[in-house]
Amino acid sequence: MKKYNWAILGCGHIANKFCSDLKLLSNANLYATSSRDLQKAIDYKNKYGFEVAYGSYTEMVNDPKVDAVYIATPHTFHREHAILCMNHKKAVLCEKAFAINKKEVEEMIACAKENSTFLMEAFWTKFQPSFIKAMEILKSGELGKLQIVRSDFAFNAPFIEERRLYNVNLGGGSLLDIGLYPVFAALTSLGKPDFIKTFAHFSTTGTEESISMLFQYAGGEMANLASSFSSYSPTQTEYWCEKGYMILNPRWYMPTKITIVKNGQEPLYFNSGHFEGTGYQYEAAHVMKCLDEEKIESEIMTWQNSLDLIETLDRIRRDAGIFFPEHDKTDDKLKFC
Ligand SMILES: NC(=O)c1ccc[n+]([C@@H]2O[C@H](COP(=O)([O-])OP(=O)(O)OC[C@H]3O[C@@H](n4cnc5c(N)ncnc54)[C@H](OP(=O)(O)O)[C@@H]3O)[C@@H](O)[C@H]2O)c1
Repeated sequence: MKKYNWAILGCGHIANKFCSDLKLLSNANLYATSSRDLQKAIDYKNKYGFEVAYGSYTEMVNDPKVDAVYIATPHTFHREHAILCMNHKKAVLCEKAFAINKKEVEEMIACAKENSTFLMEAFWTKFQPSFIKAMEILKSGELGKLQIVRSDFAFNAPFIEERRLYNVNLGGGSLLDIGLYPVFAALTSLGKPDFIKTFAHFSTTGTEESISMLFQYAGGEMANLASSFSSYSPTQTEYWCEKGYMILNPRWYMPTKITIVKNGQEPLYFNSGHFEGTGYQYEAAHVMKCLDEEKIESEIMTWQNSLDLIETLDRIRRDAGIFFPEHDKTDDKLKFC
């Protein structure tokens, strides 16, 4: 079995969880950490048992031993950091939101093609056993036609002006951080919507704090989605079908239980059978499988999946008036927000 040397780009909150889960994979070698701050990179290296630490991202990508990079910086830097890695022939697993807008995602994909390097959005939910099982149940038709998706993701994130979540220059707001999960739930079951209506509430720094999104499809199907940083929510996804309904129980985006209720019958439960870690190991294992097979694109989280998601997020932002001035100014379609 080939072992891959992983590097972490950006030693922040989520990289911690990813590193813990990466340790569960026997073909993953925790090789390098990189941070804008060398001491931070060294602390991370020691905490998780990496071999080397770099005090800049550029030094790390110049290390020929690095095979794959996990990018865990704020969304506004994903394009720049992914392109930096791919231009140095590193495989890239980049956190969601993949970038700020569709134009940036297109540039990242073009760079992957030019360099023949692997690129995937780290949409870990797509690799969870419970989510995969839920998709199988929907496709099997046992619940009849899917009519309505209801999905939410909210937690109370106290307002601190400097915080990434409330910083418009770091892509702050609930939509690109957590709201994209309910959007993903709709896209993976109903596809891209024909119509979108939104309502958003903004914080004093200009970031969107809460958003409600309604999707309508030509066939009459609908999605009722919401995210927020001002309250807690069940963080649950429901699929309402002609012959019953299915719930991806809280917290639906990670390994969880599924409840299936067919009309007039007792609920059935499915447990994901997930025992170790938080659930980030599944996407990392998939990246290495793709690299074993010399693929530059995942067949599970495809580039088209990422384009569909970011295009839908752009549409939502246009409707809700969510604008990231530094980034959107180069995109004609978003300028007018
Ligand atoms: N998949 C998931 O479950 C999940 C969960 C949470 C977040 N995320 C995503 O992961 C990304 C990072 O989120 P996070 O919560 O880990 O953020 P975070 O704790 O703020 O960490 C981001 C890291 O990015 C680096 N960075 C580079 N330039 C920066 C700048 N100008 N300002 C701030 N940080 C900068 C910093 O690392 P250095 O100082 O080491 O360079 C920082 O620690 C986001 O895109 C987010 O949506 C995903």
